[in-house]
Amino acid sequence: MFAKTYGSTTFGVDGILIDVEVDVSYGFPAFDIVGLLDTAVKESKERVRTAIKNAGIKVRQQKVTINLAPADVRKDSPGLDLPIAIGLLTAYGVIPQEKTEHCLFAAELSLEGELRSVHGILPMAINARAKGFTKLFVAGANVNEALLVQGLTVYAIRNLADLIDVLTGKKDCAPAQPPDQGLSLADDSLQDDFADVQGQFIAKRALEIAAAGGHNVLLAGVPGSGKTMLARRLPSILPSMTQQEALEVTKIYSIAGFLKNNSGLIEQRPFRSPHHTISATAMIGGGSIPKPGEVTLSHNGVLFLDELPEFSKSTLESLRQPLEDGVVTISRVHASLTFPSRMILVAAMNPCPCGFFGDADKACNCTPNEIKHYTRKISGPLLDRIDIHIRVPRVAYNELTSVQPAETSAAIRQRVTKARDLQMQRLADYKIFCNAQMSHAMLRKTCHLTTGAQNLLGLVFKKMNLSARSYDRIIKVSRTVADLDQSGDIQDRHIAEAIQLRNDVGLDTL
Ligand SMILES: Nc1ncnc2c1ncn2[C@@H]1O[C@H](COP(=O)(O)OP(=O)(O)OP(=O)(O)O)[C@@H](O)[C@H]1O
Ligand SMILES: [Mg+2]
Repeated sequence: MFAKTYGSTTFGVDGILIDVEVDVSYGFPAFDIVGLLDTAVKESKERVRTAIKNAGIKVRQQKVTINLAPADVRKDSPGLDLPIAIGLLTAYGVIPQEKTEHCLFAAELSLEGELRSVHGILPMAINARAKGFTKLFVAGANVNEALLVQGLTVYAIRNLADLIDVLTGKKDCAPAQPPDQGLSLADDSLQDDFADVQGQFIAKRALEIAAAGGHNVLLAGVPGSGKTMLARRLPSILPSMTQQEALEVTKIYSIAGFLKNNSGLIEQRPFRSPHHTISATAMIGGGSIPKPGEVTLSHNGVLFLDELPEFSKSTLESLRQPLEDGVVTISRVHASLTFPSRMILVAAMNPCPCGFFGDADKACNCTPNEIKHYTRKISGPLLDRIDIHIRVPRVAYNELTSVQPAETSAAIRQRVTKARDLQMQRLADYKIFCNAQMSHAMLRKTCHLTTGAQNLLGLVFKKMNLSARSYDRIIKVSRTVADLDQSGDIQDRHIAEAIQLRNDVGLDTL
């Protein structure tokens, strides 16, 4: 007999529907699965066979052929165990074929027949709904993720024997209900507040502008000046994610297998701070079946690279494409995948190996060659992709010991959110969220400079020999400064602040 069921696998950040075709015929007993299988799916037949036996179903040994289509998609999800088992039981006549119509099955099976959760349920569910499926059967631990997709009835199933009873009408199963609240990615970062940082007004202002417009930032300064401390507080002033942004992030974490505790929608922006020994592959994503890297895991959030010059040159250079395009493309023999990677990059560094180059009070004891060697890894093109370069000086004693409380993250966040709302309204037609994402054409259409601002920019352009890219970046940052000022036009003071934020470190990149 022949039967057909449906399962799913993932490709990049999307789900792909897999047809499971099962044929059971008379002949020499055999059990073959074909269709470009990865090891996890090749091993599936042992799990399925044993799980069916342990579910108490006895079937006669026959010639079983299973085809997973489309044949040109590599199948790597152990979640195909369940549709294979259901397909087999349907072909044997245990489950009526009509009971599996419009149903998608996605779970791994244990030898006992228990359903186990799998990665990537959210993209699988989104794809299933788009393809017209109405029912989704998953393990209990995947339920909340699946329920994020509206228009699908989700069933949490404990084991194969239960599912057989449900599909044969012996047992009822109530659809699962949505959870009450979402998940935050890094709860402890919520305790970090800008109120802890004394002084450093320029650096805080720079981070406020970065948060408002989604701009990349480089913080350079002497050891102990608070660069790491400042950068770790950036998530606390970022505006909350839109529903669409939250879904994008949850999809990525679902595929990477980082959604824990049966979590639902991720509502807090990601903050990733990989160690400087990270490889280029771990940074941009990779593996024989590519998995998302740090640039993708920080999508819609913050990627913090502390001690920037300590990262390997290849890792830093690999950042150029994701920073420019907002996506990263990874090519392998079997597939070329694109992952989203639109984040705020925050980089921190000392200006030289001893850390005191340019310090007002302490002399730097590095030779020019040592400084050159230290900063050489950070190439011009990489620095050019960072809109705001800011020097973080040593905090003054009277500021550090001041009893005046510093401004809280909540107060800064209010201004950031207002500025971001203005941008969202202005950029709604272009389907982007913030000023940093504007292309040259969008910039020309949406940014209006007053005559005073034009004159100032013209003057600076000639004096400092600006490149076309720097010109665009200065306008983008000044647009954000104007948004924080709730100003429709870009005025000369906005341009002046943007220029200062670009050239403060002394690394000559303008
Ligand atoms: N502005 C500040 N207000 C209050 N505490 C501060 C401030 N700046 C630094 N500190 C204190 O100094 C510690 C060290 O700061 P931090 O690690 O951020 O320095 P850093 O600039 O990253 O140094 P390095 O270059 O060595 O990495 C902080 O944990 C904090 O306790
Ligand atoms: Mg530090």
